Amino acid sequence: MSKNSNKFLDDLTPFQWFEQWLNDATEKIEQDPNAMSLATIDPIGTLSIRIVLLKAWDNKGFVFYTNSKSRKGAAMNVNKQVGLSFYWPSLNRQIRISGSVEKVTDLESDAYFQSRAVRSKLGAWASKQSQPLESREHLLRSVAEYGAEFGDEVPRPAHWFGYRVIPSDMEFWEAGEFRLHNRWRWERDNEKWRVQRLNP
Ligand SMILES: Cc1cc2nc3c(=O)[nH]c(=O)nc-3n(C[C@H](O)[C@H](O)[C@H](O)COP(=O)(O)O)c2cc1C
Repeated sequence: MSKNSNKFLDDLTPFQWFEQWLNDATEKIEQDPNAMSLATIDPIGTLSIRIVLLKAWDNKGFVFYTNSKSRKGAAMNVNKQVGLSFYWPSLNRQIRISGSVEKVTDLESDAYFQSRAVRSKLGAWASKQSQPLESREHLLRSVAEYGAEFGDEVPRPAHWFGYRVIPSDMEFWEAGEFRLHNRWRWERDNEKWRVQRLNP
């Protein structure tokens, strides 16, 4: 189907588009094809952006894991509205998502946490993410102390869990010749998704 017509937009849902583009990225990009920018807004309106990794997704939303006491965690505890953006330079594609976050179930967070390497699990305990750190030695000592406490059976810290971004709109961008790029955005209207082509 030619991307010059609008018909091709109706053939797939935004989630099916997402799946195709993420699959293409995973096939072609070696390092972190699942990296995405996450924008949050804190209670005084300061916007902040950082990269996190997409660890799961389905038609409900897009899941990443972090420390809920971090800067982003503190912002999301108060303001649930966030933005995500993927950019795959070698594919000339971008996806932007706006939505609101909710905590994933403890079962889901436990399952993902337990899939991590022991040292990564210990790091989740040792790192007071986004707080000042006196020296790297302090951090390494803290990892060793938690290692001595837990051994190989490291439980998930209660403040470390997954957030699911429930999308309210999803916008796709693909580079076109002479900067006549293709852009189209889906917006959620209750349970329906409506798509519109946008000027580049
Ligand atoms: C490629 C890449 C992947 C990252 N993945 C995560 C992640 O999944 N979760 C996370 O908490 N931080 C991740 N980080 C670190 C964050 O970008 C950020 O530095 C950290 O979460 C602290 O952010 P904050 O102070 O805004 O809360 C990643 C960084 C990079 C460069």
